[in-house]
Amino acid sequence: MSEIKEMFSNRHIGLTENDKNYLLKKVGYNTMDDFIGDLVPNNIKRQSPMEINSELSEKELLNKIKGYASLNVNNVSMIGQGFYGTHVPSVILRNVLENPSWYTAYTPYQPEISQGRLEALLNFQTMVSEITALPIANASMLDESTAAAEAMTMSFKLNSKKNKVILDKYLHPQTINVIKTRAEPLGIELIISEEPENEDLTDCSSVIFQYPNTEGKIKDFKNEIKKIQEAGTMVILVADLLSLSLIKSPGELGADIAVGTTQRFGVPMGFGGPHAAYFATQEKFSRKMPGRLVGVSQDKTGLKAYRLALQTREQHIRREKATSNICTAQALLAIMAGLYGIWHGPDGLKKIASRINKYASHFASLANQSGFVVRHENFFDTIVLETGNKTEDYILSALKEGINVRKLDNAISLSFDELTDDQTIEKLKNIFKIESISKPVESFEIKNSQKRNTPLLEHSIFSSITSETEMLRYIRHLSDRDLALDRTMIPLGSCTMKLNAATEMIPVTWPEFSNIHPFAPEDQTLGYRKLIDELEHWLCTLTGYDGISLQPNAGSQGEFAGLMAIRQFHKANGEQNRDICLIPSSAHGTNPASAIMAGMKVVVVSCDKNGDIDIDDLNKKAKENSANLAAMMITYPSTHGVFEKEIKTACEIIHDNGGQVYVDGANLNALIGLVSLTEIGADVSHLNLHKTFCIPHGGGGPGIGPVAVKKHLIPFLPNNTLSGNNAISATTFGSAGILPISWSYIAMMGEHGLREATKTAVLSANYVAKRLSAYYPILFSDDKGLVAHECILDINQITSETNISNEDIAKRLIDYGFHAPTMSWPVPNTLMVEPTESEPISELDRFCNAMISISKEIEEVKNGNWSKEDNPLKNSPHTVETLTQENWNHPYSRQIALANLSEKTNKYFPPVGRIDNVYGDRNLVCSCPPMEAYELEKT
Ligand SMILES: Cc1ncc(COP(=O)(O)O)c(C=O)c1O
Repeated sequence: MSEIKEMFSNRHIGLTENDKNYLLKKVGYNTMDDFIGDLVPNNIKRQSPMEINSELSEKELLNKIKGYASLNVNNVSMIGQGFYGTHVPSVILRNVLENPSWYTAYTPYQPEISQGRLEALLNFQTMVSEITALPIANASMLDESTAAAEAMTMSFKLNSKKNKVILDKYLHPQTINVIKTRAEPLGIELIISEEPENEDLTDCSSVIFQYPNTEGKIKDFKNEIKKIQEAGTMVILVADLLSLSLIKSPGELGADIAVGTTQRFGVPMGFGGPHAAYFATQEKFSRKMPGRLVGVSQDKTGLKAYRLALQTREQHIRREKATSNICTAQALLAIMAGLYGIWHGPDGLKKIASRINKYASHFASLANQSGFVVRHENFFDTIVLETGNKTEDYILSALKEGINVRKLDNAISLSFDELTDDQTIEKLKNIFKIESISKPVESFEIKNSQKRNTPLLEHSIFSSITSETEMLRYIRHLSDRDLALDRTMIPLGSCTMKLNAATEMIPVTWPEFSNIHPFAPEDQTLGYRKLIDELEHWLCTLTGYDGISLQPNAGSQGEFAGLMAIRQFHKANGEQNRDICLIPSSAHGTNPASAIMAGMKVVVVSCDKNGDIDIDDLNKKAKENSANLAAMMITYPSTHGVFEKEIKTACEIIHDNGGQVYVDGANLNALIGLVSLTEIGADVSHLNLHKTFCIPHGGGGPGIGPVAVKKHLIPFLPNNTLSGNNAISATTFGSAGILPISWSYIAMMGEHGLREATKTAVLSANYVAKRLSAYYPILFSDDKGLVAHECILDINQITSETNISNEDIAKRLIDYGFHAPTMSWPVPNTLMVEPTESEPISELDRFCNAMISISKEIEEVKNGNWSKEDNPLKNSPHTVETLTQENWNHPYSRQIALANLSEKTNKYFPPVGRIDNVYGDRNLVCSCPPMEAYELEKT
């Protein structure tokens, strides 16, 4: 009997065939083919086949990927170099990493529905700030190496672009390589030195040290930092956070900036990522630091509330003036690390660090007494044994014992970690043929002068939880305050908040994937490599490209990598003068920021009244800049959410003038199966796997932004981060640990499912646009009145008549139980709605009904029944406190304020009312306030 197969695509796509037919009718079509025929301009319809020979059921998928997992070898890793074994506390594993209320949340741009994750991120910032003893820390960076590069850029900008930076020779090699890529286009000269403090510091903006260094040595900073700073040069320490519980903190040492990974705070190695890096600095630099910063503010009633602070620093506002392009960061992993800090508390962390240090010292003493030379006496967790010409033999013996070590020149480096135990020591003794010494003299101790003297994690949050019950409830308390995809549609335009299916997520925490070190030997990572090869092939097939690198950890990094490929291509052709990048005015802020980072000059091209690129202006600017034209960066479908007909012409103009075409692939969810990027004329794109390919957004990261290119650009793609060129991230496959998600999605959807997903996504967007167009003008559509995968509602007319803004509507949607659409991008005072293919018809209607109901409320204001100042929109969102206050002095009832349209939906009450952003930015507090502040608030 032939098997009756459960099609995963039917689970992923929210609409049934009947639903689709119903929606088609509402949009004015009889068949999907007619609809797509009208929607996608003929000249850009995909011509080439798109073969994905896989359409697995969920059960088949899990069996198949288990087979891949079994090809990875789960050795004990002592490689170190920034990646360490760690125990993910089960309470965090199950209730955060594997919990959709955390991983399906979006970046907390709507703070009233994000108080839980904002608090968790603030805990992370407080933890970093207290451990580093630096007053301000941000809410995560993409990895340690890019964090170091960002610190370099910040020092460069702060130091009037003094164009020399000195790197300690003993930085991790991957960090040196990432910094090299970032420094070149900015014209920064790098000097790699064994003794940076003794170099000529003239014109030097910063010196960067690894602390402890890549060989484990704790540098005995005495006057070096002061000496460097006296020359007007900043000091950046790339510091291991765990070690800082024992050794002097960057703050005590007087460093200007500290960065580093927080991976070993309970985040699996995952063959390289995703992991949150931290960035901490002095107060005076707070407005210059990259990335997102959570701050404390208050709501309308004076209640303490969190929100993203100083957003004017962000690339999406500063655009070409931005000093960094980071957008999506590593929120979920930062949240995990912060919770790890709370779970263990100061004493627990010290205990873990001391235990690691004791194992390292103990084994170093054993080795030393057995005749080995231990290269450095002062270390935290990493020791280097001089092994001379026996190095390879020892490495082989270690492999036989199931241990991976790091090979140095004539030496072996061993990093001890939280997972090290007596068994590890016994195995090491076998490997290095060390006889048992009944009482080894423990000769290696951290010197007193190097020990930390300041207290650790003093804030009461880090001592408040001792039992699992408390931890479980704290995590639940936080997630209950938030709206994530597990409760409601998140109709954020340009964000593609689609289903992150459970089957896709399951393999991520299997030890065969999660415990693999990024620099493990190739023959131990065959499962990963097979999966990566297939995923790369599929992504190329789907987009039409010839080569791809999965290295970038977010779209922003993919953009930078793609532009760097263009830069190098021109250079290889002897045309290094080509440095002009044409970017439409509607572009996402990361585009111009990336262009600047890649050493390009941005020339803005205008858009016409339909939101399409103004071809005449493009032609003019391409011709004017013909001699120096490097590229055009354009998003397709446009950021205005339409399939522009003239895209091919635009690409031809650029090619005719010697430039390359960069198509921002963030909107790929409207294209898969219908349009090939290369057929429309693109040379390079980044794809956001955290949009179209189901990586969950994690409350602001992780993300993966692969960069895909045509043949001629393949030589310039990021390569092996240790031995190759163009390093963009710390590890070759970036956030490899979550690649099983995208691989699983494609393997289960197959060619048919993927195409159907695209068609459903654009159909749903058009249905929403159609239903809402009678109430809100749809800003951009094509000549048939159709939109692509999202639609923009224009609120400007409403504002001029009633003073109600897009923000008021966004906040009122919270009362209806919704996450707001994207606000004011790419056009001020608009709402951009993207429903995706995963939403069922009931949810699409619930959203449309809410928007229609809000429009009726706006009518009441317009008609003067409610004043422009006191109405349910201006006062939204309504908290339980405001709804239950004794005196209700508003012109509308409590029932209206409640706004719960559907009995099926549990009413969500935001924990705080509308948040005062200006107050928060004026009174910047970016770590947990003291406990008294919480007390005050209750009274
Ligand atoms: C059009 C567009 N380009 C680029 C990006 C940047 O991607 P990421 O946030 O992953 O850096 C985004 C993110 O929202 C986007 O919408």
